[in-house]
Amino acid sequence: MEDRMNSKKKIGVLSGGGDCAGLNAVIRAVVKTAILRYGWEVIGSEDSFDGLIKPGKLRPLTLDQVRGILPKGGTILGTTNRGNPFRYPVKDEEGKITFHDYSKKVIDRVRQLGLHALITIGGDGTLTIAQEFYEAGVPVIGVPKTIDRDLMGTEFTFGFDTALQTATEAIDKIHTTAESHDRVMLVEVMGRNTGWIALESGMAGGADVILIPEIPYHIDRICEKLQARVRSGHNFSVVVVAEGSRPVGGSQVFQESSAFQRRLGGVSLNIAEQIEEHSGLEARVIILGHLQRGGSPTPFDRLLGTTFGVAAVEMADQGRFGCMAALSCGEIRPIPISEAIVQERVINPLGQRVRAARSIGISLGD
Ligand code: F6P
Repeated sequence: MEDRMNSKKKIGVLSGGGDCAGLNAVIRAVVKTAILRYGWEVIGSEDSFDGLIKPGKLRPLTLDQVRGILPKGGTILGTTNRGNPFRYPVKDEEGKITFHDYSKKVIDRVRQLGLHALITIGGDGTLTIAQEFYEAGVPVIGVPKTIDRDLMGTEFTFGFDTALQTATEAIDKIHTTAESHDRVMLVEVMGRNTGWIALESGMAGGADVILIPEIPYHIDRICEKLQARVRSGHNFSVVVVAEGSRPVGGSQVFQESSAFQRRLGGVSLNIAEQIEEHSGLEARVIILGHLQRGGSPTPFDRLLGTTFGVAAVEMADQGRFGCMAALSCGEIRPIPISEAIVQERVINPLGQRVRAARSIGISLGD
């Protein structure tokens, strides 16, 4: 009640799901635009929606608090991919997890704080929750975040470019050890059910084989390519594997299946074993994992995060609730969040990028 008496407009901001580089650029831009351009106040919700559920996890965000955060990876607000308020996991003393609906707590808190808008930075999981809250009357604005680049309606999400750079550097480095030892080196990258990081880092890093979920692989085709390289005098190869890749007629490999999620990872270990068995070549695996989410954002991600953050506050000013800032043909525009989460944005197996990879002799394992 007390909060509502304050006449200054107030907005909330939170980051949800897995972290990635560029989150702080968005938070900084939201705070600066809200304060400097509109004279508003900004409240940060820590650990995704937790700040609106639990006590002591909301904090005013001032210009001082966002000073110096632009080059920093991660998120100053913290994040979680295990805190869906509509299905909130609670562990009892015996470690048993039960799910509770805490959405009303969030809705009540937003109203009590008198938030004009709740800027929700997240990937498809967090934006799906945001959409549910929008339908329940919460004035949500979305900002697309994910290294996977799998949201519809936006050509880029921040975090992807930094992950791409990390993966490309790793592929560059793996070449020399592959060559010295006459080995097949497999580099497994993230991306969930899409192969964006794999295809683009594989092409940028000069991989010989790139495996993506959109094109199921055949182990014989992979071995044919590796053996052909040996016959032509190249005794080493680099294979880039998207974590969501699967063989023709087979399934994806998960390293963890819990009540929360099924976590992909480890498919490259199976592939390496099969390569050794079928081709007699020696193979080694490196799984890049969360390295791809860390580190300082690239200039592209800093700029994209900043322009998304500014656009989100402008959208709040214009009352474009239920919308997400999206990049299309170099311009940022609002699109309904529902359009971004309707399905995953996957690679077209017949598209230009895949055709370019094939044209320069890269095997897609099919
Ligand atoms: O969605 C981003 C992502 O990094 C995926 O590429 C990966 O499969 C997943 O998150 C890993 O999640 P977690 O942080 O729970 O390990």
